[in-house]
Amino acid sequence: MKVLGIESSCDETAASVVEDGKTILSNVVATQIPFHTKYQGVVPELASRKHIEWIQPVVQQALEEAHLTLDEIDAIAATNRPGLMGSLLVGLTYGKTLAWATGKPFIAVNHMLGHCYAAHLLEDIQYPYLGLLVSGGHSIICIVKNFDDIEVLGTTIDDAAGEAFDKVAKFYGFGYPGGVVIDKLAKNGSVNAAQFPVPRFHDPKHRYDVSYSGLKTAVINQIDQFWNPEYEKTPENIAASFQEAAVKTLVSRLLLAVEDTGLKTVVAGGGVAANSRLRAMLAEHSEIHCIFPPLKLCGDNGAMIAGVAYQFLKRGETSPWSVGASARIEGFRRKR
Ligand code: KG4
Ligand code: ZN
Repeated sequence: MKVLGIESSCDETAASVVEDGKTILSNVVATQIPFHTKYQGVVPELASRKHIEWIQPVVQQALEEAHLTLDEIDAIAATNRPGLMGSLLVGLTYGKTLAWATGKPFIAVNHMLGHCYAAHLLEDIQYPYLGLLVSGGHSIICIVKNFDDIEVLGTTIDDAAGEAFDKVAKFYGFGYPGGVVIDKLAKNGSVNAAQFPVPRFHDPKHRYDVSYSGLKTAVINQIDQFWNPEYEKTPENIAASFQEAAVKTLVSRLLLAVEDTGLKTVVAGGGVAANSRLRAMLAEHSEIHCIFPPLKLCGDNGAMIAGVAYQFLKRGETSPWSVGASARIEGFRRKR
């Protein structure tokens, strides 16, 4: 079964054809980064307009690269939540219209289920496992019981991990997107240049939760308090010290979850899963088996959407034409 997956929740216009939820026949990602760089962040209105302009050629290219015509596609899927409303509406409306006009089944897909599924495109992974879903909008530590059955253990109480990278980079004028630039700068900096705090919550209710607003404030407004005067305040040193604390924040909670649940497999997904320090820090823990998608599948892409859609189709589930978009995540249960 060949599924066309469309993704337009933020600043990438993406389309991909995936066969049987596994074989990627094409994966086209048109990034809008150059258009948002000037503003050092995604401008929602600009993003929607670019999606409208690019959606048709991107889908066309995905079909061409898969050497398929639209007739040979069995179903069409698109992200419908969470994300920027204007951006989501473009891919969702395009996908629904294409499916309706060609008489094919349509499946609306939750973007975060997509990030979780990305690693499954390359290897067979047994459920349950611990998920680490980290992007520009979300930071979720969860038990993944099935492709659509996720129990949230912890999340951010303020900023998402990727958002913290983006905001620090924006403040210091490092470039955009922040995560990519900081990751690169940090390679030539020292993690000892500053000792930024890694927040912890004493309330057991927040055992697996993370927070980034304190770290962000420390790096932006109180850097002198945490700086080691033996080091020069270079972009590389700031990036390395910030990244170390940002990654430790995630890894510390994840290790608690591993200990408490006994689940030893961790599957990461989302833009921040591309972070080289996160990968290296988790690799130091030989007691856990960490699975990271390849870099191309960490960020937003249509393949992960097509993959999730296939799993719904296998169960005979499709979405009604009335399905709408939502800026919010919805459908992710928090463990009580
Ligand atoms: O999943 P994604 O492409 O879009 C959302 O769903 O948000 O994630 C984008 C986020 C941005 O905040 C970006 O700065 C961050 O992922 N990111 C990274 C890296 N590459 C992208 N963060 C840390 N290290 C990276 N290498
Ligand atoms: Zn994403």
